[in-house]
Amino acid sequence: MMIETDNLVKVFRDFWRRPVVRAVDGLSLSVGEGEVFGLLGPNGSGKSTTVKMILGLLAPTSGRVCVFGGSPRKSRVKARMGYLPELSHLHPFLTARECIMYYAGLCGLPRAEARERTSQLLAMTALEGQADRAVSGFSKGMARRVGLAAALVGRPDLLVMDEPTSGLDPAGTRDVKTLVRMLAASGTTVLMTSHLLADVADVCDRVAIMSRGKLAAAGGVSALLAKQGEMQLSMPGVGEAAAEDIAKELSARLGTPVSASRPSVSLETFFLSTVARDAPEFKLAPFLSR
Ligand SMILES: Nc1ncnc2c1ncn2[C@@H]1O[C@H](COP(=O)(O)OP(=O)(O)O)[C@@H](O)[C@H]1O
Ligand SMILES: [Mg+2]
Repeated sequence: MMIETDNLVKVFRDFWRRPVVRAVDGLSLSVGEGEVFGLLGPNGSGKSTTVKMILGLLAPTSGRVCVFGGSPRKSRVKARMGYLPELSHLHPFLTARECIMYYAGLCGLPRAEARERTSQLLAMTALEGQADRAVSGFSKGMARRVGLAAALVGRPDLLVMDEPTSGLDPAGTRDVKTLVRMLAASGTTVLMTSHLLADVADVCDRVAIMSRGKLAAAGGVSALLAKQGEMQLSMPGVGEAAAEDIAKELSARLGTPVSASRPSVSLETFFLSTVARDAPEFKLAPFLSR
């Protein structure tokens, strides 16, 4: 297991140490190696608090959190994690390249290697053209790309992303989702939080839904979303009238109502096919080949 939490609790207290909020309330979950895990929940349900405890940035009130089999407060464990915070506070006067170089320095990379990885990451996040511009002029989507590159510069085995798609347009969202799948394919474990259900359903293997600090549901995405006791047929190349006939015949044969309808593409797919891209897509780079 990459991440294991056992009966994790976080109570925030006020100045007089009086309990104010039970942000996380007895959370037990586990994330396996190579998994893309989604932590879902409405605003204020305790997602960010959980993430910060997993990263060792916040001490639990009670319960246990284990990452790579150890405490996330150990530097040995921290060195293997990458973190994309909800808001990346990038230094406005630095360029994209300098920002990533700065984080490479924090990871303790030698200068030459830092420079090489930075170039690879700029290529992967399609920021090459903007690499030497100050990040203060960047759009939200571009700033998120810099944040992602910074989170990846230490080649983490575990990437933790807090609301990676919030505030991004559909193209930016798709890029983040593509990147997550690429990282998963290269063996990186990903934990992401979101309040946008569709984003999580598309990329996660497993999800946990949090409500008021507690686990409300957990499981494989396809299993959670599958409708029980119902099947669907697909008939490419069949016209509407023919489908109605077939439905009638089947209905008579099975003794249950059978309906025919035209499948629809998601609004996201339609939108992306209609709108011209103004940002280049992420590219698979040598960075990911381990
Ligand atoms: N540093 C803090 N001090 C006091 N309360 C906090 C703090 N951080 C978060 N909370 C509270 O904990 C609850 C969960 O917050 P959070 O984990 O940020 O939720 P989410 O990320 O799901 O939106 C909220 O009620 C929030 O107000
Ligand atoms: Mg949050």
